[in-house]
Amino acid sequence: MMIAPSLLSCDFASMGTEVERVDKAGADLIHLDVMDGHFVPNLTIGPAIIKAVRPFTKLPFDVHLMISDPLSYIDAFADAGADIITFHIEADSDTDKTIEKIKSRNVLPGVVIKPGTPAEAVFPYLDKVYMVLVMTVEPGFGGQSFMEDMMPKVSAIKSEIKKRGLEVLVEVDGGITVQTAPIASKAGADVSVSGTGVFKAADPALAIKEMKNS
Ligand code: DX5
Ligand code: ZN
Repeated sequence: MMIAPSLLSCDFASMGTEVERVDKAGADLIHLDVMDGHFVPNLTIGPAIIKAVRPFTKLPFDVHLMISDPLSYIDAFADAGADIITFHIEADSDTDKTIEKIKSRNVLPGVVIKPGTPAEAVFPYLDKVYMVLVMTVEPGFGGQSFMEDMMPKVSAIKSEIKKRGLEVLVEVDGGITVQTAPIASKAGADVSVSGTGVFKAADPALAIKEMKNS
């Protein structure tokens, strides 16, 4: 299991050193949550902050767009240093056009589904994406409880990927801790995003290690 700490739960006044901290603690990716106050009822960071923290690590930046019009902002996030850009298929932008736009910028594309969206909704895109992100909370806030009832979706997507001989990563996001990571792993998740589970842990390096081993 790969671990992507979500900066949403870090000390925002020291973002650069927080990134260095989780890099040293064994993170595989850095997860950055972008919210527009429209697609979700919260506002977070945009491309300027992502660009500012980019020099603090060589780890890939996994940028999760929770915004209504992702297509219009792909250039800005590519310029800011995103390595992976995931966006919601529930957003207003055309999904195929957004995937193509991300690829045209040499960034790896991924599609995200909210808890109410069925697994089958991502099937038409499996041969076009690097990653599928299955939300295990309603997007918008860190620190919510893991929705274990999303695991059948993770398994269904993973088995469809295998059935087609593809190598798409399945990521889960929301409520992942040392307790819940093994459940996600057993269901077939390859990558776990963890915000409070890493940044609020007494020992983030130990938390990452335990999650990785799950
Ligand atoms: C929620 C975000 C998550 C969030 C996870 O909308 O997409 O990445 O930061 O935080 P935890 O791990 O605390 O649930
Ligand atoms: Zn996220």
